[in-house]
Amino acid sequence: MDYNILIQKAIEARKNSYSPYSNFKVGAAVLGEDDNIYLGCNVENASYGATNCAERTAIFNAIANGNRKIKAIALIGDTKTYTYPCGICRQVIVEFSDENTDIIIVKNENEYLVKKVEEILPGAFTKKDLDVQ
Ligand code: THU
Repeated sequence: MDYNILIQKAIEARKNSYSPYSNFKVGAAVLGEDDNIYLGCNVENASYGATNCAERTAIFNAIANGNRKIKAIALIGDTKTYTYPCGICRQVIVEFSDENTDIIIVKNENEYLVKKVEEILPGAFTKKDLDVQ
């Protein structure tokens, strides 16, 4: 699949980053099961722990608009290299993904990596683990 548009949207979303504490801007774009694109950026807080990462902002935006699965998520940080999703975001990505979901880790418009959930969070704890008594 051609992810150019999703990558462009993640770059666009990064402009809205609210990151006065880290000065590290992150942007994300989710392709929902409805085929719409949902944007997210990191939103920091004076109480640092209240910060929300770009990926979770974008995913929650997709969920709040009725999606329950994501087809893909692209994210871009603020360095010349690849920014991978943090541990909490990996857990949230897994919650709304399946084996077909692509996680696109973007360095720039032309360079990106495409990963599957099993690669970024092997042996994840999921809903099905809660069914085991
Ligand atoms: N950040 C993200 O938005 N996504 C990640 O996966 C890594 C970290 C944000 C959180 C915080 O605002 C800043 O980057 C520095 O950690």
